[in-house]
Amino acid sequence: MDYYNRFQLITHLFFFRKLISSAYARGIKDLKKLGIEADFNKPGFTCLLSGVGGEITAELYIEFVIARNKKAKMVIIDLGEQQVASVKHLVEQKYKGYDITVKRMNVLDIEKNFAAKTFDWIETDGLIEYLDKPQLKSLLRQWKQVLKPDGFITTRDFASNSPFGALVDKFRMWFIKKHLTLTGHVHTKKQLDEIFAQAGFRFVTGPTPVPTFKRYALVAKA
Ligand SMILES: C[S@@+](CC[C@H](N)C(=O)[O-])C[C@H]1O[C@@H](n2cnc3c(N)ncnc32)[C@H](O)[C@@H]1O
Repeated sequence: MDYYNRFQLITHLFFFRKLISSAYARGIKDLKKLGIEADFNKPGFTCLLSGVGGEITAELYIEFVIARNKKAKMVIIDLGEQQVASVKHLVEQKYKGYDITVKRMNVLDIEKNFAAKTFDWIETDGLIEYLDKPQLKSLLRQWKQVLKPDGFITTRDFASNSPFGALVDKFRMWFIKKHLTLTGHVHTKKQLDEIFAQAGFRFVTGPTPVPTFKRYALVAKA
């Protein structure tokens, strides 16, 4: 079984939908702690889902955005052929009247594909664990470049900060290799915080119901 189908088994777990949609809402709420009031209704509001996984996440994301702005421009990207095909099919079937672009591409090619200051909101979930540290630094530099000056980023990812977390990391790396057939990378909470700060972001973090999986809301430092 390939990555797409294996990951779908996770997205079909009964709590997955609830986790993702409440995570979006929490991320947006977290921005208030950074002094940011997210305005989905500003003219030309444009957002990027950076690594989608498949049609279930895409649907939750699209519903979250159109509940706030039916005219929002949405861009959904992923490296996986099947991930992108499943989302294109969903958009064709259910969201034809909306401004949604679905594109197969590497997140590390964002700066080649989008102009500077394109996005108001960049969202991703469980993507960082697939990037090593130089790749993560490159992604953050590119996100910062394509983010509008008052734009914001929300994400959740594994960020361990205890011996228990280190154990979870060991299991995760095994699971990613054996069951998702990809290579994962461990980033501790301390390392992620340092990398985000060095990349020029202010941020707040919080827990999620998944052990060692932390939520982050980020904005570029002035
Ligand atoms: C764990 S899934 C998470 C997906 C989604 N955010 C969710 O919550 O369901 C990670 C996704 O990131 C994609 N991905 C991993 N590395 C990528 C890269 N360098 N560029 C684009 N997509 C990538 C994978 O193909 C996969 O679909």
